[in-house]
Amino acid sequence: MSDSTDYRIERYKRLLDLSDSEIASSRAIWKLIEPHMGVIIEKFYNHLARCGLMGYFDQTDLPKLKLRQLEYWRNLFNGEFRTTHSAHIRKIRIAHLSKNVGLAEYIAAYYWFAREIFSEIGGLEELSSTRINEYLRVVSKIMFLDMIVAVSVQDDAIVDI
Ligand code: HEM
Repeated sequence: MSDSTDYRIERYKRLLDLSDSEIASSRAIWKLIEPHMGVIIEKFYNHLARCGLMGYFDQTDLPKLKLRQLEYWRNLFNGEFRTTHSAHIRKIRIAHLSKNVGLAEYIAAYYWFAREIFSEIGGLEELSSTRINEYLRVVSKIMFLDMIVAVSVQDDAIVDI
């Protein structure tokens, strides 16, 4: 699997024009946003509750799921794309399918996380406006890369049928 995974990730990086220096920036971005991610994740589940979606989590150990979410974003922003790809195939797709979480909700959640992370970066007074623009571009690419991987994994399931 690893060869085709690497090939696939390289292809998506090229499609998004995601460079190695932007991946290095993504690691720097993570250092800045990690202290805020616990609150962002907490707000995410509060948002789902306000949308009436907590029925999905009836049997869920929520504190554990929040830790998994944090680990997930850490791997993604640190450029561990093979790990996140494997998480999509082995865990997330299965967890979401088994609870009937649709792609639409999933994509909406990416928008929600992107918006929160953009707003956190935009508020960092130590960054110049040029740096903020660069970081917002990098966050967009990283989030789109992950969405593309998530969707491609669903495509695989269709091909499997
Ligand atoms: C950016 C979007 C999302 C990401 C990155 C994400 C990520 C994850 C991860 C990492 C897991 C744990 C998989 C495991 O290790 O077993 C998980 C499980 C789960 N997620 Fe998501 N998720 C997202 C959006 C959503 C949304 C929008 C919903 C529902 C509205 C949802 C519902 C669930 C449920 C029900 C589980 C299974 C919980 C359990 O084990 O009982 N997720 N997700």
